[in-house]
Amino acid sequence: MANVLVTGGAGYIGSHACKALAAAGFTPVTFDNLITGWRDAVKFGPFIQGDLLNRAEIDAVFARHTPVAVMHFAALSQVGESMKHPGRYWRNNVQGSLNLIEAAASAECGNFVFSSTCATYGDQDNVVLDEDSDQYPINAYGSSKRAIEDILRDFGAACGMKSVIFRYFNVAGADPDGDVGEFHKPETHLIPLMLDAIDGKRDALTIFGTDYDTPDGTCIRDYVHVCDLVDAHVLGLRWLLDGKPSRVFNLGTGSGFSVREVIDHSRDVTNRAVPIIEGKRRPGDCTKLVSGSTRAVAELGWAPSRSTLPQMISDAWRWHQTGHYNT
Ligand code: UFG
Repeated sequence: MANVLVTGGAGYIGSHACKALAAAGFTPVTFDNLITGWRDAVKFGPFIQGDLLNRAEIDAVFARHTPVAVMHFAALSQVGESMKHPGRYWRNNVQGSLNLIEAAASAECGNFVFSSTCATYGDQDNVVLDEDSDQYPINAYGSSKRAIEDILRDFGAACGMKSVIFRYFNVAGADPDGDVGEFHKPETHLIPLMLDAIDGKRDALTIFGTDYDTPDGTCIRDYVHVCDLVDAHVLGLRWLLDGKPSRVFNLGTGSGFSVREVIDHSRDVTNRAVPIIEGKRRPGDCTKLVSGSTRAVAELGWAPSRSTLPQMISDAWRWHQTGHYNT
């Protein structure tokens, strides 16, 4: 079975990707520093603890496992934190990715699947966000990811490295089998925080801003199920292994939901009240991020099947009640 190097394979999305890769007949080799990931989440292939800021550690993984491709998830990914500590994002995300890309080029591993973000588009009122949209990130997280996209394009031109860049919208849900799920410490994402508030693990969910220019005043996002998202990654990997050219794909459903709408759906799915506090805006948040593209469906044959809000919340709720990691 061909090895695929999965950076961040102990994290939320990376661990689901490892499960999908194993199911598709690949061996996922996880490389993770365990700063935000969990050893317990690595269940589908070998694990190497290492840091992308240490080039020698990356070179050793390429030498030992000779992967046919890289799936690069490892990153700091919190918009709010990136506004307070931009240096962390440039160092960890950009320098770490540059080390990885250079190591892949040296090892002649020329297939790279990269997890980018719709945060690279920034706040563009009334613009349909497709892959050709301008990228004007308004937070350091989005800027760091846009920079990595540029690095990949430059390496493509210089040495023929091929990349599939996925710009994610908001990822939610969990593996329906309960093998892996979303578990951050501290948690910052809307749906898991809401589930904490619903079952009393926190007093209330704070809505970050109720004065946005949206129908109910709260931010609008496009939520996509993590299992659908990682299925697209397997299709992207096959795209590269089939010799197709570098390509960018949005991964979203095209439907936007406000924070209040997500709260309403959560109340319906769990049949419990959601305690809320109306708070101030969080710096760096865009008003509305909704994908306007069907390129992944048309070209990759992506067929999302679990990305309705009730399904995502219900899968997250099941994991929330039964699943967690210890280490
Ligand atoms: N929100 C709240 N209260 C909370 C947490 C979040 O109101 O306690 C709001 C946010 O303000 C935002 C929405 O819920 O409007 C979603 O926030 P998340 O923190 O769950 O997600 P983000 O949109 O900030 O970021 C996520 C990923 C990024 C990715 C981005 C794309 O963390 O990696 O989606 O939109 F880039």
